[in-house]
Amino acid sequence: MTPHFLEVDDLDPVRLRRILDDAVAWKADPAAIPPALAGRAAAALFQKPSARTRISIEMAVATLGGHPIYVRDEEVNLDVRESVEDVARTMASMCSVIAARVFDHHVLERMVAVVDIPVVNLLSDTAHPCQALADLLTVREHFGDLEGRRIAYVGDGNNVAASLAYAAALSGVELAVASPDGYELDAHVVDRARNLGSAVELLGDPYDAVRGADVVYTDVWTSMGQESERESRLRAFAGWTIDAALMKAASDDAIFMHCLPAHRGEEVAAEVIDGPQSVVWQQAGNRMHSARSLLVDLVGAGR
Ligand code: CP
Ligand code: NVA
Repeated sequence: MTPHFLEVDDLDPVRLRRILDDAVAWKADPAAIPPALAGRAAAALFQKPSARTRISIEMAVATLGGHPIYVRDEEVNLDVRESVEDVARTMASMCSVIAARVFDHHVLERMVAVVDIPVVNLLSDTAHPCQALADLLTVREHFGDLEGRRIAYVGDGNNVAASLAYAAALSGVELAVASPDGYELDAHVVDRARNLGSAVELLGDPYDAVRGADVVYTDVWTSMGQESERESRLRAFAGWTIDAALMKAASDDAIFMHCLPAHRGEEVAAEVIDGPQSVVWQQAGNRMHSARSLLVDLVGAGR
């Protein structure tokens, strides 16, 4: 069966660990990167803007010897010029991987239903699994291990939070999520993460979440596609900014993480994201290293 990566729980703990092991090894020794995509192409389709995801997937494909093909939705016009299924079939007739950033997660499922090459989720309304791989890699690099580490996610229970919950569950990381009323992680995500073995805690106070945390993590209050909710979200999240006082309430050696793009003065104060505890640029760079080892896992590379 063709492996896909629509959410982190498409992996199991063993594959997840191997992807992270490979990412660490190839980051340290680029000469050891296998030419897993030599002579092959990967289509990278975007319905939303991107800086890190586009660059990381293109570089991951290129460093595996493959050819990344960036396609904007404005060009293929999913379900207007041609159906999602026909675009996917076309890509599969010439490429070895389809990677896509979409509004509706169901679009990825429609692609999976008609192609026999791996489909990779580059962010949907419900999940951002490639981000979660880079997040785990960054925590592991910083602390030397994952098992038993504690992440406090403070903010919107969105796509990034959901994938982080599954990633934490599969890697033995404790996760506390604090969100304002009405913006909590979806109940089905919490149930699924708990079924995977996670003891994810849901809290209503950021200070409760960060106590004892090794990592304080946040994301934007208004995700792409939610722009019309911006004013109501600004009101709901008022007072939820991660500032120096909140960081002080975490462990003494705690790090600050953010998937980016960030809005200084909204979800995070400049003094935190630009301060000594922030690892956001290491985290951004790790998007490429983790995407590369994910692709090798998915395309097989003779293993
Ligand atoms: N973190 C992330 O996915 O960034 P982009 O939206 O810039 O790709
Ligand atoms: N939650 C954000 C993440 C951006 C990388 C969004 O979906 O816009």
